[in-house]
Amino acid sequence: PLPEAFTHPLPFPPVAKPVRTANGVDHYRITQRKAKLEILPGLQTEVLGYDGQFPGPTFDVRSGRTIAVEQVNHLDVPTVVHLHGGHTPADSDGWPTDLVMPVGGSTGGHEHHGGHAMPGDVRQGRRTHVYPNTQRAATLWYHDHRMDFTAPQVYRGLAGLHLIRDAEEDALPLPAGDREIPLVIADRAFNADGSFRYPALDPTLQSTPGVENAYMEGVVGDVILVNGAPWPALEVEAARYRFRLLNASNARRYELALDPGPGKIHQIGSDGGLLDKPIEHSSLVVAPAERFDVIIDFSQYAVGSDVTLVNRLGSGSTAQVMRFKVTRAAKDDSAIPAKLSSYKVVPAPSRVVRRQWRFRKGQAGSHADWVINGRPFDPSHMEARPRLGDFEIWSFVTDVHHPVHVHLSPFQVLSRGGGKPGPYDAGWKDTVDVRPAEVVEVLIRFTGHKGKYLIHCHNLEHEDMAMMAAFETI
Ligand code: C2O
Ligand code: CU
Repeated sequence: PLPEAFTHPLPFPPVAKPVRTANGVDHYRITQRKAKLEILPGLQTEVLGYDGQFPGPTFDVRSGRTIAVEQVNHLDVPTVVHLHGGHTPADSDGWPTDLVMPVGGSTGGHEHHGGHAMPGDVRQGRRTHVYPNTQRAATLWYHDHRMDFTAPQVYRGLAGLHLIRDAEEDALPLPAGDREIPLVIADRAFNADGSFRYPALDPTLQSTPGVENAYMEGVVGDVILVNGAPWPALEVEAARYRFRLLNASNARRYELALDPGPGKIHQIGSDGGLLDKPIEHSSLVVAPAERFDVIIDFSQYAVGSDVTLVNRLGSGSTAQVMRFKVTRAAKDDSAIPAKLSSYKVVPAPSRVVRRQWRFRKGQAGSHADWVINGRPFDPSHMEARPRLGDFEIWSFVTDVHHPVHVHLSPFQVLSRGGGKPGPYDAGWKDTVDVRPAEVVEVLIRFTGHKGKYLIHCHNLEHEDMAMMAAFETI
């Protein structure tokens, strides 16, 4: 039986603390380890967790300040860490075959993919990632990116938030302190003993990648977790709150809305930071890996109200996400400024490089069930060589639904389905929800770092089943 909704208080992931600072660089150490957590009442769930937590510790850092994160692998599987949305040098970006092998384990277990041996920078036990955070204030997240096994490893818990703050954002009267709240939304399925139920072909995640054929569209669960708790509840005052929403689900999309109405949701930011001005929504469609920075004003409800965050794309147990309980009136000095940021929509220059990326069903059962431009992921093949500083227009063309993600630099959506961008496309994005048989055009410009990066579908089962391509910035 499923746990009762709205009985668990909303948990908050711990904030990561530097272990030392040297030459202006903050050093952190994260231990990847197994832990037993009580996610469902009275049951233990074994997670693979950053510091044994799910979600992992939140990084809370300043724009332009470099941090170094040593990741130590005390699990029994190889891992790779990627900072999603990070403007990161290639050797710290989490290339899928740059495996970190378990501490004390052997360096065996190099997988093969599509018959190619995979050349990767394999490390024993640990690896330090350097993040310069040379980008605007934004809500990023970090998660596992191991070749062929990203989906099961994220599902078991390897994901956390990484917040970047800057002076432009600090100057705004946004809700802050305990009125600024992260909401990491992820669906999961559980076995009767409390363990995560994931249909991996090899549940030890050692050799054979992939999921049972029935799950090729993506793995969804019947329990909705927010910050690791099932359908939690949060007591709020009748005031404005800022929520940083992340859809950390492998494959589930949500249409989030407040019940009862009117339920206005004010979007102030997207994947890549603040919008120029707020956008009012009555609901938000959030695809895997997308972030929405929103303000909800609970003074639109009477004190004593229960306000449920619902999922209009769900049914039964997945139609609800969490509940807000409006407990009392309160003073509120915050505001939703009419002007948020100097960010501007860049007009597309007349001379641009155009590239097309076709996301399609591949060959069923071949472990290349999903492909880009007709090709399953091959880490030795560069599908494009964009030049740093150039504007490029990329068209994403789909068969079915694919949330498309690009590493290194953000993009702006220029058009969707031949028309204007959609209601959820505003601002700088790094993940865009491309709907069935649709074309989305984005304007992208890579800066800062030369090297090998990725474009892939962020339905994690599609990604593992080869819907990924490499490009090299030059
Ligand atoms: Cu969030 Cu390449 O991934
Ligand atoms: Cu996909």
